[in-house]
Amino acid sequence: MSEFGLLKTFARELVSSETSARVPEPDLVMEDPEKVAAFTRAGREDGVMAPVYLYHCAHICSVIRPNETVVDLGCGPATQLAMVARLNPETNFIGIDLSDEMLDRARAHCKEQGLKNVSFQKGDITALSDLPDASCDAVMSTVVLHQLPNLRAFHKCLEAARRILKPGGGLYMVDFGHLKSERSIDYFAYQYADRQPELFTIDYLNSLRAAFHLSDWQKAAAVHFAKDATLYSTMVMPFMVALKSRVRRPLSGDVASSLQAMRKEMPVWHQKDFRDLAFFFRFGGLRCPMPWRQILRISSPKAGSVHHQGA
Ligand SMILES: C[S@@+](CC[C@H](N)C(=O)[O-])C[C@H]1O[C@@H](n2cnc3c(N)ncnc32)[C@H](O)[C@@H]1O
Repeated sequence: MSEFGLLKTFARELVSSETSARVPEPDLVMEDPEKVAAFTRAGREDGVMAPVYLYHCAHICSVIRPNETVVDLGCGPATQLAMVARLNPETNFIGIDLSDEMLDRARAHCKEQGLKNVSFQKGDITALSDLPDASCDAVMSTVVLHQLPNLRAFHKCLEAARRILKPGGGLYMVDFGHLKSERSIDYFAYQYADRQPELFTIDYLNSLRAAFHLSDWQKAAAVHFAKDATLYSTMVMPFMVALKSRVRRPLSGDVASSLQAMRKEMPVWHQKDFRDLAFFFRFGGLRCPMPWRQILRISSPKAGSVHHQGA
């Protein structure tokens, strides 16, 4: 993120009296092969979303345990899911999505990675009708809820997540939050327009416009997860919102060092985005499970290092 642009956006959100309205996504379930390809690329290798996935990976690893069943709601092409599954080979994962195009990519991605601990189901995350009550140990979901058509579906999804989760289970659900000002939304959508396909920029803009407001998250979290999870958002401007259960397992040494290695292999601009996201969440109350001193250290990746974001 450009430091100046970010500061300007921060200041605007702090003082703005605008209240931009939520505009639902044009495509709720992502089936268009070109859009799916652009979205997939954005999360892998040098894609703009790569640091975001790494950041959420650290949190997800802290709410899951070995020998558990973890359900990923709206798994998409399994970029996030494969990253977490690779670091947690003794945990079983089920990815749920309604899009065949996404599920095909997800299966291919996990096969390429040789992952044996991930399976997929086609299903609607607002019902989860194939999953019995209290049948899973943890639920994860990244950048999905804005795809739902309305607040009723948003509540139904959280209600379904609550239903399938065992008491005391782990939870990490994160998504974009709705910014006050249209200019701030444009800032985030277009900040890397020169580094990504136009289709992704438009998809990202639509996602930010479709994001639910923090107040909607607060109400839904209070109804469905009042005792079991805490709601966090990035400081002052809720461009990301996360609902997280208590930490159920501190990062093991292996996982912590893999995450750090992945972070260090990222290009400098990704390391900065990771740091900025960690900063904005930290001052919104959510501490990254990785040591802060590591996060602050930005260094050029070693020449020839392989960027293994799970591409
Ligand atoms: C923006 S993608 C995010 C994918 C993935 N979680 C990630 O972080 O890369 C949102 C995904 O949610 C899926 N989706 C949207 N509405 C859904 C629903 N009602 N039931 C299941 N999947 C849904 C879309 O098909 C898409 O794959």
